[in-house]
Formats: sequence, structure tokens, C-alpha cells
Amino acid sequence: MTKMQKRTINGIEIAFIERGSGPVLLLLHGFPLDHSMWDAQIDVFAEQYCVIAVDLRGFGQSQIVTGTTDMELMADDLPALLDSLGINEPIVLAGLSMGGYVAFQFALKYAERLRGLILCDTRAMGDTPEVAAGRRQAAEQVMADGPQSLVEAMMPRLFAAETVEQHPDVVDSLRRVMMATDRQTVAAAARGMARRPDVRAQLGEIECPTLVIVGEHDAISPVDEMQAIAAGIAGSRFVEIAGSGHMSPMEKPDAFNAVVLEFLADMQAMGS
Ligand code: MLT
Repeated sequence: MTKMQKRTINGIEIAFIERGSGPVLLLLHGFPLDHSMWDAQIDVFAEQYCVIAVDLRGFGQSQIVTGTTDMELMADDLPALLDSLGINEPIVLAGLSMGGYVAFQFALKYAERLRGLILCDTRAMGDTPEVAAGRRQAAEQVMADGPQSLVEAMMPRLFAAETVEQHPDVVDSLRRVMMATDRQTVAAAARGMARRPDVRAQLGEIECPTLVIVGEHDAISPVDEMQAIAAGIAGSRFVEIAGSGHMSPMEKPDAFNAVVLEFLADMQAMGS
């Protein structure tokens, strides 16, 4: 298990990895995952940037949480974490799926701390009442029986068929992380996602350079939905990763990394 640093942030012990030096790039994982979903990115990006990969509250090696974890609450942990590390300059924030829901909250609430935004395989709309009810029900089932049923329901929607066939190791590693996540944390985040705000009407408020990335076969945050996010953010860049599903950083790491590094280099070149 990777040894992580820890800081007590807003009363919760938050674990994170910090590697490299230079402009700060903060990575936010999806649900119910941890920082390890960025394993194929951390060292590559750390050659040029200070990479911080966090375990959001409750997940991975962070302290277990109960109740309901709102996306805004997870976003509130980030400036406090940066403060504790003495990082005052604006950062680039990248979030995948649930990490993207958190990144939206950060972008809307802490715009002055943001230099750039990378939205990966995520959604701007909130849950429909039916989906929200399903999530709350899933939360209760996880509390009663553990994450197994939720994991089995999610697995077929996470990866492109090509990944399942050619990289079963990637699929297995993700399953292991999901199964190891504490049930209270899983339930709390599911309840939080069920009541997350719809941010479509606020996309125009995001003014920093933004990159929107989606896997060609993403079944959870489909291409057309992510195109609409890019259309709502002035000047944003939209990239589709061929042959990938929802987990583009894990499924097509080389393509994903190239797109991110090009975006970051262009930002630097433009003095952003
Ligand atoms: C994720 O990958 O973080 C989840 O699929 C997000 C969700 O369930 O909405």
C-alpha cells in the first residue's frame, strides 16, 4: 500500500500523495475509488508539475465518514488542504466523475484559487428523482450488506468492452479498490450525490481555461452530455478518447496523459 501523507482538515484526517514540483495539479478520484485510479498519471505529470492526488473524505486512507457527504463538503476540504501545505497560488484541478462533481463545486465557490480545470467523464446535471431514490436505496443496501451489490451494478458500466477483454488486470484492480471502500463512506457519498446540485445553469460562471475529456464509450457520462458541458464553458477544449469507457485515465493512459500535458503546456504558453 502506498504510504500517504495525512493532514487533519475540517476535523477529518485526509490522506494524499504529493509528488514533483512546479505548478500545482490536484487530482480528484471517482466513486467509490481512491487516489490509485491516477497511478498511470501521477509520476508522468510529476516530471513537470507538483501533483497532489487526494483520497477524498472517507475514501482510501482518509478517515471514514458517516451520514451524508455533500459534494460541496468535499470541495471545502481542498482549500484547507492547500493552505496546510502552504500552497497559495491558483491550481489546476482535475476531477473524474464524482471528482468532477466536487471540482464543479470548487470552481464555483473558490474561483480565485483556480488557474485551470480538467473535467473528466463527469456530469453537470443532478440526479432525476428516480435516480436519486435509487442511490438512497443503494446506500441503505450497502450499509446492510457491504458494497458488493453496488460494485456489481457499477462494473459493467465503467469500462469499454475493449478494456475488459484486453486489460482484465485494470478491471480487477478497480474492483478491489471499490470492494475495500468502507460501507459508511460509500453510503454517505451516494446520499451526497443523490442531492448534488445541477450546475448546468452555472457553467457560464467558469472562466478559467478548461479541458473537457470523455471516453468514446462512456456509459455513465456520455459524449453528448460532455459536449454540452464544453459548450457551456466559454473557450473550453473538448477531447474524446477513442476506445475508452468511463475510466479514461486508466483505460487509455497514454492518450489521456498526452491530452492533459498538451493542455497544461498551452496554458503555460499563454501565461495562464
Ligand atoms: C463515479 O465514477 O464517480 C460515479 O459513476 C459517479 C456517479 O455514480 O454518478
